[in-house]
Amino acid sequence: MYQGTIRLSNGLVVPRLALGTYLIPEEQTAEAVRNAIELGYRHIDTAQAYENEHGVGEGIRASSVPRENIFVTSKVLAEIKDYKQAVRSIDESLRTANLDRFDLMLIHCPQPWDEYGDEYRYFEENRAVWKALEEAYRDGKVRSIGVSNFSIEDLESLAVTANIRPMVNQIPVFIGYTDLELIRYCQDRGIVVEAYSPLGHGDVFKNQALLPYAEKYRVSVAQLCIRYTLQLNAISLPKTTSPDRMRQNASLDFVISDEDMEKLKSFAW
Ligand code: A2P
Repeated sequence: MYQGTIRLSNGLVVPRLALGTYLIPEEQTAEAVRNAIELGYRHIDTAQAYENEHGVGEGIRASSVPRENIFVTSKVLAEIKDYKQAVRSIDESLRTANLDRFDLMLIHCPQPWDEYGDEYRYFEENRAVWKALEEAYRDGKVRSIGVSNFSIEDLESLAVTANIRPMVNQIPVFIGYTDLELIRYCQDRGIVVEAYSPLGHGDVFKNQALLPYAEKYRVSVAQLCIRYTLQLNAISLPKTTSPDRMRQNASLDFVISDEDMEKLKSFAW
């Protein structure tokens, strides 16, 4: 079981392999989370939008591992773009998960999802939501704070009024989709990158060109892809409900050569 960790700018130590829970139905979440923890996972990633925070809390309590040894992330809905609603939603998430605090809380997206990529960028609104996160951090409701899906421009806009710099930016990263400029920008500024969809939501399995790499290291395509994100110095969040796959996804005791990393970084589908 891979046990790597990374330190956030506030000193908090975070397990670098997490169970992603996007699209895990609420009724399956507690069991998936408990299974993952029993297998050795110590980091669980959820969000208000996933509607499974309750199951995440339940799964943690049902496991044999003390709460303080598990790192739990949630995210403020992408559609919440004002201070008061953000404050309320954080309290609501804590109640839903039945937890005293989260280890990390993120702004899920700089724009509401149905406006993602549109011209209006919600710069002011994200500053207001960030203020709510900063307060939750100061009040001890969350142990660290960050953002998700933020571009360099979104990060620079937030920095204008932020008192605390985001500790994390959670972005999609997988072989064939690697925004090296954004990753470098974040890492140069002490913002830890979290790679979501390290398996491209399953798309990586459709690409035959990855097979020779997996064969070379005697691993599965899933393991190759997860290891790739870790070697970019990111936290990796593969999602699955299958204990066998959880086990496989955490067996990462191999090293992709520098040469292969360079090829995989510029891999085109
Ligand atoms: P399932 O949840 O049925 O196990 P991503 O993390 O990039 O969003 O990818 C998640 C997708 O990859 C899900 O469809 C998940 O299926 C699948 N998946 C996760 N781990 C593995 C694995 N080791 N082998 C094959 N498919 C996997």
